[in-house]
Amino acid sequence: MGRLDGRVAVVTGAGRGLGREHALALAAEGAAVVVNDLGTGADGSGAASEPATEVVQLITSTGGRAVADGSDVADSAAAGALVQKAVDAFGRLDILVNNAGILRDRMAFNLSDADWDAVLRVHLYGHFHAARAAAAHWRALAKSAGQAWGRIVNTTSESGLYGNLGQVNYAAAKAGIAAMTVVLARELGRYGVTVNAVAPRAATRLLGVAEPEAAQGGELDPANVSPFVVFLCTDAAAAISGQVFAVWGGRVQRVRGWTPAEAIQTEGRWSLDALIEAAPRLFPDGRGGVPPFYPLEAEAVGSAG
Ligand SMILES: NC(=O)c1ccc[n+]([C@@H]2O[C@H](COP(=O)([O-])OP(=O)(O)OC[C@H]3O[C@@H](n4cnc5c(N)ncnc54)[C@H](O)[C@@H]3O)[C@@H](O)[C@H]2O)c1
Repeated sequence: MGRLDGRVAVVTGAGRGLGREHALALAAEGAAVVVNDLGTGADGSGAASEPATEVVQLITSTGGRAVADGSDVADSAAAGALVQKAVDAFGRLDILVNNAGILRDRMAFNLSDADWDAVLRVHLYGHFHAARAAAAHWRALAKSAGQAWGRIVNTTSESGLYGNLGQVNYAAAKAGIAAMTVVLARELGRYGVTVNAVAPRAATRLLGVAEPEAAQGGELDPANVSPFVVFLCTDAAAAISGQVFAVWGGRVQRVRGWTPAEAIQTEGRWSLDALIEAAPRLFPDGRGGVPPFYPLEAEAVGSAG
């Protein structure tokens, strides 16, 4: 007996890396899986059907149920059709794991329109396209059947949460995904759908790891992230929604978003002179010009993909 027996999941970008492990872990708990992957290079170039079909073979060879899907999640119609594919293949959709991703790192002054667009399209648009289709599906089900059940697990990044330099496109997309997670959670809660996001750390080719297989069994094995993704998809996590978690190795860390900090207040409108005098009170530690964010730097762990 699996915890997800009878459930049907779509996992995007499930041919390699983290998505592959999520798909295998969901299947191991009994879910039928639509294994979506366009089969691109790490920068989004090219396409290949093998990564998705290999994961399907792995699942079906151990008695699980899975079908491959080669859609581009950046394509609105194709990504939307993913939901229909789950319904056509397995009769329902319960779980959407948005994971497909690419990187095109450049400092902002060197970033081309094409590199900006490609990263925004796969991550931010890709997450939205699939989430919108799944949300419409569950809302229609709730209205016709009186109830629905759904899980969306999005993939953000500590780069987007804390602001990694050289990744203005990727960080903007991932921060957008974190914000989208909160909005979707608020919109879909009434339909029995939870929406959360994970910010993983894993040794995959997106981190520039030449031989991701070598990470197997180590702290940055992508398979270490999947149990928590599966957990979010169970009934045990029904009360958890609108949350973001950093996940790697044996660690799951809840992350809080922007929170109000120090404030200054005047009667009516500030004068410039008064602001010049009062503004330092916004920075009691005196570090006003230093981006306060990147805990990874403090931990000396290195950059996040
Ligand atoms: N590896 C990390 O440390 C790390 C850190 C933070 C966030 N992430 C995020 O995790 C997710 C998975 O990344 P990964 O590290 O496993 O990388 P990966 O390159 O191993 O896997 C990504 C998969 O997405 C697929 N893909 C790319 N564009 C697609 C598209 N348009 N439609 C469908 N599939 C597409 C690729 O073919 C590939 O198989 C990404 O969203 C990434 O940004 C990874």
